[in-house]
Amino acid sequence: MRKYIVGNWKMNGTSNDLGEIVAIGALAQLHNNVDSALCIPATLIERAVTAVGAFPIGGQDCHMQASGAHTGCVSGEMLSDAGSVLTIIGHSERRAAQQEQDSDIRAKAEAANAAGLKAILCVGETLEEREAGKALEIVLAQVTQSLPDAAAGGWLCVAYEPVWAIGTGRVAEPADVTEMHAAIRRALVERFGAEGQKIRILYGGSMNGDNAAVLLALPNVDGGLIGGASLTAAQFQPILAAAQAIGK
Ligand code: 13P
Repeated sequence: MRKYIVGNWKMNGTSNDLGEIVAIGALAQLHNNVDSALCIPATLIERAVTAVGAFPIGGQDCHMQASGAHTGCVSGEMLSDAGSVLTIIGHSERRAAQQEQDSDIRAKAEAANAAGLKAILCVGETLEEREAGKALEIVLAQVTQSLPDAAAGGWLCVAYEPVWAIGTGRVAEPADVTEMHAAIRRALVERFGAEGQKIRILYGGSMNGDNAAVLLALPNVDGGLIGGASLTAAQFQPILAAAQAIGK
């Protein structure tokens, strides 16, 4: 499976940063063994798409409805209309701050698919859950409950992002990543049969140029979802290079 390297800019980026997006898009073209994309603030999508050409630009959430009385929300149709080809769904920051439940996330993934978007659906345990020995149970429950029945077919991938590894510089141990990704893979195969083998499972949480080669070489790690280290082309480049080297 080709590695999939996706940047998540979170609530960062204004028109001043369009040049950085263009630089990242140009880098992506040079790493032709790797699939890559950038998920940016909705306000920048249309201008970014115009500026980068074919490089895939995405959003970071979408509403479960296509339109209606939902002040401040953005629908899959709107993301698609602005030129997005993908969106993140169910990021732990939204699960925590916006109280998104697995049922919401499932509906959002279905809405993204209906709008023709690819989706990166995030799961991950908190530090308390890991320390209580519940990481596998929590993450597998999220996988079961937030993935739609139509998840196979290439439009959806799962991102395992342990909450305690996000933005902390504390990367999950390779053995823990291996164990979790294997468990997610088993759950996907149980539910979707052979198609479950083809659903990419990304790792996210403090991935950077120093640790990407190790993480991306682990079994069932089909790519990365990168926050801080996706904000500049200079930091994103070594991650793309690590994926490119493995892809060869
Ligand atoms: P960091 O790479 O900044 O830890 O963020 C990971 C993340 O949340 C990507 O969605």
